[in-house]
Amino acid sequence: MVNIAVMGYGTVGSGIVEVVNTNGKRINQRVGDDINIKYVLDLKDFPGDPVQEKIVHDFEIIEKDAEVKIVAEVMGGIEPAYTFVKRCLQAGKSVATSNKALVAKHGAELLSIAMDNNINFLFEASVGGGIPIIRPLNSSMTADEIEEITGILNGTTNYMLSKMFYEGADYDEVLKEAQAKGYAERNPEADVEGYDACRKIAILSSLISGQQVDFEDIYTEGITEITKQDMMYAKALGMTIKLLASSRRDSDHLHAIVAPYMLQRNHPLYNVNDVFNAIFVHGNVVGDLMFYGSGAGKLPTASAVVADIVDEAKHLNRNIMTMWDSEKLNLQPIEDTSK
Ligand code: HSE
Repeated sequence: MVNIAVMGYGTVGSGIVEVVNTNGKRINQRVGDDINIKYVLDLKDFPGDPVQEKIVHDFEIIEKDAEVKIVAEVMGGIEPAYTFVKRCLQAGKSVATSNKALVAKHGAELLSIAMDNNINFLFEASVGGGIPIIRPLNSSMTADEIEEITGILNGTTNYMLSKMFYEGADYDEVLKEAQAKGYAERNPEADVEGYDACRKIAILSSLISGQQVDFEDIYTEGITEITKQDMMYAKALGMTIKLLASSRRDSDHLHAIVAPYMLQRNHPLYNVNDVFNAIFVHGNVVGDLMFYGSGAGKLPTASAVVADIVDEAKHLNRNIMTMWDSEKLNLQPIEDTSK
């Protein structure tokens, strides 16, 4: 059995429990062992929720339990997340996080502590919600020099801009909707001012350059100045407005920016709408790649955290390959629904 702990039972934390409950059987098969959520750390109690029996309020219970091998940190914010994650890593527990603020600020240090302790610090869910982007950059694309990453990296603002474009919706009204759907940060200023996208492009820039890129150094402009009228003008010109985050290399330098851009209809990111994110990557060997999917929300983000947990559990089990049984599956024909 692989015991894990989840720190934070908010939107993503409850998503993790749901993913493990829903897909547990296949997940365990992939790991070659049973994943067991032993503790859920939260300040609150959840009477009536089956998770209540796992709820702990004291971080030290997790820290001191040698049976807990992997910890998911989904509390958000810098503190106490930073202290808890650091202590978990120092106690020899691998950590998977969705916390982009934490990774952008302390990623280099936490990765180094993980390496010293022969464990892993994983953060697939910190960028692009459910879209796999960290792992591809870290593995499938390591033969390349990444020359450009340009993406829509914030689901909340993309949701808002899409509604403003297609429905002529009002800024404040759509922000409330995005909050109600669980896309926005606790403080939505992080979304609309571009800080969230800035942290995400800082993480990707650090990954592709192999050096710490401070988010404070990235010019960042959000969408707070974009009005319904701006969107109407853009539309009249056959264009749309999107909040882009971009990191480009020229000779020895990396340039990064977060800002709203007007995009022509033929731009590959023009049709990325709603809460979807898309990340365009150009490698000098592989050429152009596009990653697309749900960029925020409970289950997509939880899916990425659980995938990190599964990866680490496989690693603990020295089970690197995903196996399948040699017994033949009775494949059914696909029903023709067109008739
Ligand atoms: N608030 C973030 C977004 C959540 O809207 O993209 C996912 O990081």
